[in-house]
Amino acid sequence: VIGIDGPAGVGKSTLARRLAERLGLPYVNTGLMYRALTLEAQRRGLDLEDGPALAALMSTLSFTLGDVEGSGVSLLIEGSPPERELHAAAVERDVSTVAKHPEVREAMRVAQRGLGRDGGVIEGRDIGSVVFPDADLKIFLDAAEDERVDRRARERGEAADAATIGSALAERDTRDARVNPLVPAPDAVHLDTTRLDADEVLARALEEVERRLGRAGGGTG
Ligand code: DC
Repeated sequence: VIGIDGPAGVGKSTLARRLAERLGLPYVNTGLMYRALTLEAQRRGLDLEDGPALAALMSTLSFTLGDVEGSGVSLLIEGSPPERELHAAAVERDVSTVAKHPEVREAMRVAQRGLGRDGGVIEGRDIGSVVFPDADLKIFLDAAEDERVDRRARERGEAADAATIGSALAERDTRDARVNPLVPAPDAVHLDTTRLDADEVLARALEEVERRLGRAGGGTG
């Protein structure tokens, strides 16, 4: 298990997906699980302050692994690849509220441990600290806020307005920090990606994989 944690817009998904592909491991984006629960709760009109009701809803959702699009094994929600709607503004607005409930986090922890049982690159906020404290490698990504906002804006395309994205991202960081402090695991490798492109981040991560896990059938060490 390789855990990739860090705040929004820091490049976790890009790194985790590419690392998983390189190493032939499943890729699990746990943020999508919180988003899926949020979207389903909204559709059903649930009270987002009701932790037990949200945890009960969580237990009816199906999170599995599969390779539907031939792009590697990754998270399926109700048997399908994650829908675009999971990135809608309304989900982004409410996901920290859903994620703050201990009952929800407990249910997520159980589901996430199940998904990572046979190994994987697992991306989130608390993977190295809480979900997989015994992960083989923990990487904590960080980057300057301006850079994180720029990346989000580029990701969202030309129509995106950097000021709006910036305030949404900052608000979500603040809400996330309040309900679920983003504390890196003490044994996590810290990588500041502010001045690195995606290839450089991947190269650094692969160096850590080699250092920590050794190359399969590797040298004398
Ligand atoms: O990674 P993301 O931005 O898609 O995550 C969406 C939200 O889910 C984020 O605002 C915080 C929450 N989250 C969490 O609390 N714990 C995780 N392991 C992953 C995400």
